[in-house]
Amino acid sequence: MTKHAAIHRRDGALHVEGVSAASLVASHGTPLFVYSRAALMSAWDAWMAGIAASNRGVNGPEVKVHVAVKANSNLGVLSVFARLGAGFDIVSGGELRRVLAAGGKAADVVFSGVGKSVEEIREALVAGVKCFNVESIPELSRLDDIAGSLGMKAPVALRINPDVDANTHAYNTTGKKGNKFGIDYGDAREAYAAAASMAHLDVCGVDCHIGSGITDTAPFIAAVDRVLDLVDILESNGIPIAHIDLGGGLGIDYGDGATPPPTPEFVKTILDHVDKRGPRPVWFEPGRSLTAAAGLLLSKVEYLKPGPAGGKNFCIIDAAMNDLARPTVYGAFHRIEAVEERVGDTEVYDVVGPVCESGDWLGRARELNVKVGDLLAVRDTGAYSFVMSSNYNTRPRAAEIIVDGESVHVVRKRETVEQLLSMETVLP
Ligand code: LLP
Repeated sequence: MTKHAAIHRRDGALHVEGVSAASLVASHGTPLFVYSRAALMSAWDAWMAGIAASNRGVNGPEVKVHVAVKANSNLGVLSVFARLGAGFDIVSGGELRRVLAAGGKAADVVFSGVGKSVEEIREALVAGVKCFNVESIPELSRLDDIAGSLGMKAPVALRINPDVDANTHAYNTTGKKGNKFGIDYGDAREAYAAAASMAHLDVCGVDCHIGSGITDTAPFIAAVDRVLDLVDILESNGIPIAHIDLGGGLGIDYGDGATPPPTPEFVKTILDHVDKRGPRPVWFEPGRSLTAAAGLLLSKVEYLKPGPAGGKNFCIIDAAMNDLARPTVYGAFHRIEAVEERVGDTEVYDVVGPVCESGDWLGRARELNVKVGDLLAVRDTGAYSFVMSSNYNTRPRAAEIIVDGESVHVVRKRETVEQLLSMETVLP
């Protein structure tokens, strides 16, 4: 098999590995999410390279990478990571089922999230997940009760809110005072004492996750320091802490001017910083940095709607906010490119979808040379894209495809309107 670049242009035409984007659309229609297996694997390799380059190297104390399932929970995508030996970070019973269906092991799963239900906790205990990242004392009590009723001991880490500013979108900041997440730093000792006193809990670690889409290493370093300060206090109080879980959060370069450090450099910096205070097992939970750049959303131009003199031109495409919510929810920037490059003059367009809301936009003031029927690619849509899609305006959700070299795998079929209506009923 020839080795192909992941997402690239050949003679001006966008390709995903060995397959042209245009031929994918010819076979599978639009809107269409396409992921490159090679890109997913090289994002994983970048994490591994950072570990190998760190002072602990490949044979040092454990460094375990858990893919944050919420970023891209497609079974095909998860199966790629399961085969690479990844662990998984889940936030629901549904995500646990996905991991198991994709070939992942419960023993490699950490269960995060602020609102785990009784049923979800029971299911995860029975499955044998390796750690619950617990976010409150009431959650500790609930977990202790359920573990006791099952005659089990639940492995727990407490998610600490280190009160550091991640300098990211307000909705993606999780480690500041006032966020709903984690246990307040000042309450952490008391919470650990409570956990240590519960008969059916086994305290194994400490956890934090300060936010998402972070493009600067400094907030992570600040969080590591806060976490290790706490570990020192806990251990001097007789509560041993086996691992530290530093969550996810590393951003990617979306082309909007904010550039994160390369993944290997970031991973090495963090690990070497931890090791200055003594090596111990480190866990991570990255999502975006593993999947975002591996994905494309392909869409067709339906109409070009010129604006009045001095007004806006609209490029109306068949993908919308229900397919990709990030622009309207976070004001997020995604590069939008013609699948086949044209020569000639460009126009400035707002790229919008058919949904009946002015918030339905995918890109603003984009220079494009397009005609009706042309295909556009919205880049970096492998994370928080399909997973956040909806059926708003009774729009069936897009298909998802993985390209692997010359092979094309439909890893999620396009929904049909019949399927959507079949969930509902008129009154008798
Ligand atoms: N661990 C926990 C506990 C999390 O809450 C998250 C993300 C992650 C790990 C993975 O973070 P990542 O490495 O992907 O930054 N929908 C938003 C992002 C929400 C992130 C939620 N938590 C967006 O589209 O930007």
